[in-house]
Amino acid sequence: MIHHLAITPKNFPESHKFYTEVMGFKLVKIVKRQAMGGRKAGWTKHVFYDTGKGSYFVLWDLHLTGLEDDDWKAPISTGLGLPWWINHIAFEVDSLEELEEKKQTWLAAGNKVSEVVHEFITSIYTKDPDGNMVEFTCNTRELTEEDRLEAERLLVDDSPAVDPDYPGMIYLPDGRVIEAPSSPVEPEPAEAGDWENTASSY
Ligand SMILES: [Fe+2]
Repeated sequence: MIHHLAITPKNFPESHKFYTEVMGFKLVKIVKRQAMGGRKAGWTKHVFYDTGKGSYFVLWDLHLTGLEDDDWKAPISTGLGLPWWINHIAFEVDSLEELEEKKQTWLAAGNKVSEVVHEFITSIYTKDPDGNMVEFTCNTRELTEEDRLEAERLLVDDSPAVDPDYPGMIYLPDGRVIEAPSSPVEPEPAEAGDWENTASSY
């Protein structure tokens, strides 16, 4: 089990508000210390949020000497040069009812939400204030020995995939629901923005 995962937001107060009010995590602990290197190096807060089942999510609140805003990028995917949907953070919920509650909370907060029924999990996705993709997911069946054997087989299979991406649904805060096809080969420019927020594979 992961004890905690820590990331650094660009704007700590804004992200604190998102992870407490929109994601629903409870602030449980802050470690405030001088930075590595001592007093001259500045100071930090390591801010813990309880995500359930003994796991925590952590935001750094950085006050490092000499680290300017332009020196670093916060997004964990685009900040590294990757597409926005690659590196992401998924949190588990216990039931599809709880997943629906999370979706409604996100929508009420003005967030665009995509939902994908994978064959072993159902997931919803949105973005945090830095554009990081966050996911709530619910297991819908146990993984089996067959899944493990397939995984071993796919591990050494580097032929191009032939299965299309999963289709998804996009929910907008204004009540609109858009079906996202599995393979938008040439999306219309007007639709590209809606498609852009799907995260149908992951
Ligand atoms: Fe995922």
